[in-house]
Amino acid sequence: MKKKILSMILAVTMVAGLLAGCGNSASDNGGDSAEVKEDAVEIDADTSGSGDSSSASGDLQVGIVLPTKDEPRWLQDQAQFEKILGDAGFTNQVLFSQGSSATEKTNVETLVSQGIDVLIICAQDGAAAAAAVEAAKDAGVTVIAYDRLITGTEAVDYYVTFDSFAVGVAQGQYLIDNAPEGTGIPLYLYAGAATDNNAFIFFEGAWSLLQPKIADGTFTVANSSEAEALKDKAELTRDELGKIIGQVTTDWDFNVAKSKAEAHLTAVGADLKGDVLVLGPNDGTARSIADVFATDKDVTSYKVTGQDAEKASVQYVIDGKQSMTVFKDTRTLAADSVAMAVSVLNGETPATDTTYNNEAKDVPAKQTDIVVVTKDNVKAALIDSGYYDASEFTGLE
Ligand code: BGC
Repeated sequence: MKKKILSMILAVTMVAGLLAGCGNSASDNGGDSAEVKEDAVEIDADTSGSGDSSSASGDLQVGIVLPTKDEPRWLQDQAQFEKILGDAGFTNQVLFSQGSSATEKTNVETLVSQGIDVLIICAQDGAAAAAAVEAAKDAGVTVIAYDRLITGTEAVDYYVTFDSFAVGVAQGQYLIDNAPEGTGIPLYLYAGAATDNNAFIFFEGAWSLLQPKIADGTFTVANSSEAEALKDKAELTRDELGKIIGQVTTDWDFNVAKSKAEAHLTAVGADLKGDVLVLGPNDGTARSIADVFATDKDVTSYKVTGQDAEKASVQYVIDGKQSMTVFKDTRTLAADSVAMAVSVLNGETPATDTTYNNEAKDVPAKQTDIVVVTKDNVKAALIDSGYYDASEFTGLE
């Protein structure tokens, strides 16, 4: 217990240090601060006698499960976790589910069998993950849902998230602000995976602004009969959202996004080409969709949204190939969940600022703001904040 309290104190110091150090240098994996790291190594070395800070102890304190290594977004989160937790002296392990709920469950079981006290998990499938976290909870583990809410179970203690509704609002607002003049402007809608609660929230946020423009004929939905059928409804039920998402989902998969975009452009006539708008749900899918729209000779111009500020998309934004992205600072999200874990291990109640209903309970949550990034503020938002280094991009002014 003594060892844990020492680790906790160090972790709190580190989280505070990390947040304070946010404006410093950056590295490949999304803003690792060299300065913070150095300090942390020092602190870590001081505690080596405690034994708990060594991963060789075999007694894991915090387990992290992330959805996939195949999207840069989650590698950014992994880098932050390993740094913050490792530097703070917590034994920890990050495991990836690689798109499989079965692997996710095995990962959770593995971590539980290694003695974790806290599980931080970003679900592959929000409903399917319920069984995995229930098993963890039964073993006395505190469960923190990370970024994606786990639904239909009481076995979620806390939720750490970005303001996902605001992400969708930002995407919708960008398209409205940058739409060509006139009416009947073709609008192509794409969404995330229907197994991800966030996909619903993002779409709901975007719909809240786009719907009036579709209803009054400013925009014409080019690729979703379900959206067209619901165009007069300002607020959609979960089922209605599900109908649209079911039709325009990318499954968060670049290849699905690409083939859907190709199929949509093949299906429409010239009247739904020209200057078009595209609701791209995230960066990976936005790049795929952008590449398809860029090569269609009847598409004169396109505006496409994204989110995550993945390095490749930041370059696309600089190059004018993707119109915007939404910066979700993984440093803050990882630090918030570690701070929560520290409180839990310390026997305290973590600070939260809102709740999210997961169909079984109102889950206490900590929510983080997002930042809209366009060509105009790449430098201020991502370079000056220390998230990326200018040398990682070309053509940056
Ligand atoms: C996350 C996004 C991410 C998407 C695909 C969502 O739950 O919030 O940041 O792009 O999943 O992995």
